[in-house]
Amino acid sequence: MSQPKLTRVLSGIQPSGALHLGNYFGMMKYMLGYQKRSDLFVFIVNYHALTTVQDGPRLAQDTLQAAADWLALGLDPKICTFWVQSDVKEVVELTWILSNVTPMGLLERCHSYKDKLARGLPANHGLFAYPVLMAADIVGYNADIIPVGKDQQQHVEVTRDIAIKFNNTFGETFVLPAAEINEDTAALPGLDGQKMSKSYDNTIDIFMDEKPLRKRVMAIVTDSTPVNQPKNPATCNLFALYKLFATKEEVEDLRRRYLAPGLRYGDVKQELFERIRDFFAPYKAERERLLKDPGHIHQVLDYGADKARAVIGPIMDEVRRKVGLVY
Ligand code: ADP
Ligand code: TRP
Repeated sequence: MSQPKLTRVLSGIQPSGALHLGNYFGMMKYMLGYQKRSDLFVFIVNYHALTTVQDGPRLAQDTLQAAADWLALGLDPKICTFWVQSDVKEVVELTWILSNVTPMGLLERCHSYKDKLARGLPANHGLFAYPVLMAADIVGYNADIIPVGKDQQQHVEVTRDIAIKFNNTFGETFVLPAAEINEDTAALPGLDGQKMSKSYDNTIDIFMDEKPLRKRVMAIVTDSTPVNQPKNPATCNLFALYKLFATKEEVEDLRRRYLAPGLRYGDVKQELFERIRDFFAPYKAERERLLKDPGHIHQVLDYGADKARAVIGPIMDEVRRKVGLVY
């Protein structure tokens, strides 16, 4: 008897800097939870990172480190498909093909592009076309579910629009994907209370060394309510981050401490620092071990790229035939 088809779950992360708590709790943790019960595809999207990183050695190093991070956190490359985006070049060809069924207006409406422009980042064509490459990443592997943080929801919707347009033009080809967003961790705050993001320099990186980690945690911005007055947990980003590392009972306990006079933010920061350090300590040791053997990481990634290519290959054959590139 044939096995029922497993749901294909796919998501990528940019190697544009060290991975942080927002990445881990917003996306990586869910992906890791999926690996035993779905057909999981995880990749490091270095083509996407080129839209913001223009430092070759740094990008190469961050790519290898992101791979070590995933493996150290428990991603098993035997049961999932794990690769670096640029090792499977079919996706670039698909991006070009999809560009021709993508209305300009669809891209002009994308928040992440508009936000970057508003922040004064130079707008290159890569940044503008970024959602088309992301669509190729998703439909090229016929993925069903895309676990992401809230900031990526619109990009998955754009992917659906592009896939529908292609299917309507050339006949049923692509699966329509759905974003999966966990409301509790959809947009974790950074040190300054804005969304934690590599591009805002407000992150707490998951594999920081102890000293800089403590310094970052101590730099979390809190309000100026005096010690002898009750404080508001609902608006406090220190509380929001603490919640990630505490049981329900511990969260309730902290809430009571906030609502009574006497709580010192500095004490909560110290506790949070210790919890982050202890939570990631075993993974950090494994990561250091992995980074001593880059040859092994390359082998794992090559093996993953072969598996990914075997999936996108036949889909590309069909696409090329449908659009008329086979003559
Ligand atoms: P960054 O914004 O730091 O550059 P990426 O764009 O590489 O991070 O995001 C990788 C994944 O992590 C995406 O699914 C994204 O939605 C998620 N993510 C990033 N920051 C956060 C956050 N602060 N809260 C929740 N999820 C996040
Ligand atoms: N754009 C996503 C981000 O910045 C990363 C990404 C690229 C992605 N391709 C993807 C996520 C495909 C999910 C599926 O976070």
